[in-house]
Amino acid sequence: MMETPIEERERLRHIAFIMDGNGRWAKKRGLPREHGHRFGVKAFERIVEHCRDIGIETVTVYAFSTENWRRPQREVEAIMKLMDHYVAECERRMEKYDFRVRFLGDKSVFDAERKARMEHLETITQHRSRTLNIAFNYGGRDEIVHACNRLIAEGARKVTEESFSRALYTADSADPDLIIRTGGDLRISNFLLWQAAYAELYFTDVLWPDFGPTELDAAIEEFYTRKRRFGGV
Ligand code: FPP
Repeated sequence: MMETPIEERERLRHIAFIMDGNGRWAKKRGLPREHGHRFGVKAFERIVEHCRDIGIETVTVYAFSTENWRRPQREVEAIMKLMDHYVAECERRMEKYDFRVRFLGDKSVFDAERKARMEHLETITQHRSRTLNIAFNYGGRDEIVHACNRLIAEGARKVTEESFSRALYTADSADPDLIIRTGGDLRISNFLLWQAAYAELYFTDVLWPDFGPTELDAAIEEFYTRKRRFGGV
């Protein structure tokens, strides 16, 4: 098999975001945590638009993890409402949100109406070339176990890295080149465990609602100063 040229491998095509710090952002302003998430959605929309403008092919965001159900019910409900609103807006303004939307995670836990709306949005946007992956009820370990069970159910007797990748929620996307975590913590928190194998990691203390195009451009500049070797020399 012909090897992909280095320049092509190094091009930034897929950025994934761990959008952390909404709660602290709200607290600093004396607001309830839910307000932080509301402003977090605004930051998310700004970033997605900027990614589109600079030609990023795939954007993945960690919007709700399998562990986030442990948060106070009021906060969980607020995030669910924000997502419902976002899904409805995507449908209402199809021309504005010109990404193919994919939800990563186990949708079976959502009520039938929410699940149907998410799937409908995936269907009506599927012809688009750029991809927006929204990890929602997503966990990296859960994804790996889910992929194993799927392969077993399909009767697989042997797996390869390729067949395993295709059984993941991200089957349709290339691996992320860059993973950005806002909010100051230095960990991956169960996000894209398999797919992060060769991703560059970028951490910033900026809280997610304050993360805008300028901050993203700085992260991208840093990405291009790093030498990616993919295990080679
Ligand atoms: C982490 O901040 C953020 C989350 C767990 C949720 C992020 C969700 C959104 C931005 C809304 C999702 C909806 C759409 C439409 C994408 P945190 O609450 O852990 O902040 P903290 O570390 O300061 O407490």
